[in-house]
Amino acid sequence: MSTLQDDFSPAVLEQLRRLQEKYAADGQDLAAYLEGLYYADYVNYWDYINLDTLLSLQRPLTQIPDERIFIMYHQITELYFKLCLCEYEQLGELQHPALQEVVLRVGRINRYFENLIDSFDVMVDGMDKQQFLQFRMALMPASGFQSVQYRMIEIASTSLDNLLDKEKRRLLGEAAAHDELLGCIYWKAGATIEESGAKALTLIQFEEKYTSQLAAHAAHYHHRNLWSVVQRLPQEDQDHPRLLRQLKQLDVNVNVNWPLMHFKSAVRYLERDPTAIAATGGTNWKKYLPPKFQRRIFYPQLWSAQELEDWGKGWVESVLEEVRA
Ligand code: HEM
Repeated sequence: MSTLQDDFSPAVLEQLRRLQEKYAADGQDLAAYLEGLYYADYVNYWDYINLDTLLSLQRPLTQIPDERIFIMYHQITELYFKLCLCEYEQLGELQHPALQEVVLRVGRINRYFENLIDSFDVMVDGMDKQQFLQFRMALMPASGFQSVQYRMIEIASTSLDNLLDKEKRRLLGEAAAHDELLGCIYWKAGATIEESGAKALTLIQFEEKYTSQLAAHAAHYHHRNLWSVVQRLPQEDQDHPRLLRQLKQLDVNVNVNWPLMHFKSAVRYLERDPTAIAATGGTNWKKYLPPKFQRRIFYPQLWSAQELEDWGKGWVESVLEEVRA
């Protein structure tokens, strides 16, 4: 009669022993779990990545073929944003961060943004202009302005102070509560109707859906945003050239290079000499989108007075000339 030892290799017996230990620790019966394993299917690619669901998520509102490009590229971008947020989350967890890990994770976020910047010409050159101008009317008043993950990335990157309208920040005073600060975040002033100063529907709907989620996110990142994590590094590491390079690159990627590629798409489709076509979200986009007007800067401490002064300049003019040519 054969023994268990004859039937199973030492490696399998060792795995069984480890499993027995694991399940026993939780008061579970290993034999019952092995029975389940016996009936379980093999994993396949399409189920693992939820391919059918993924491919069912493109639901154009019109019959215009290029609308699918527009939807899918937005979805791709949101997935990259999610990858970025996974890194911010892990950075925020670091109570005693090590330089190596911070550099690695910020490097990953930069890589994701650089992929987005490099691929943004799918939007700029990759759609038929006439088709775009037709299908965009079906999706009003939706706008990328309503991308909550974009706002979450900003909040996870820096202290809230750096995302505020400077004048409103000053008026609130040092003792202002976190919620009050959030109420003055720069983009609140973006989607407003110029003549009346009232909020555009795009902003009203965004706030209805996301105000409490964003407040919770901002509270969560109050001491976990990337700048706070950097402040927890040993002093000599805070000035390490590799870290400074990655932080400055992130500032440029998120606040200049991506916005400029994005602006280029708005110019291509919405610029109509001498006027501009209204944006679906209702901003005065020519004044709202260019980084040289927004001057969003996550890490002002890392830039010289001249660099701050020149933030986003030069680029905008060249983008406009290139698109008009
Ligand atoms: C043809 C392509 C695109 C055009 C013409 C375009 C146009 C615009 C315009 C005009 C705005 C200003 C808000 C408004 O009034 O609607 C805006 C904001 C925005 N869009 Fe797009 N967009 C395009 C593609 C994208 C893509 C692919 C994304 C990726 C998620 C995106 C994300 C955003 C974000 C995050 C904002 C807010 C920017 C800020 O607050 O500074 N857009 N877009």
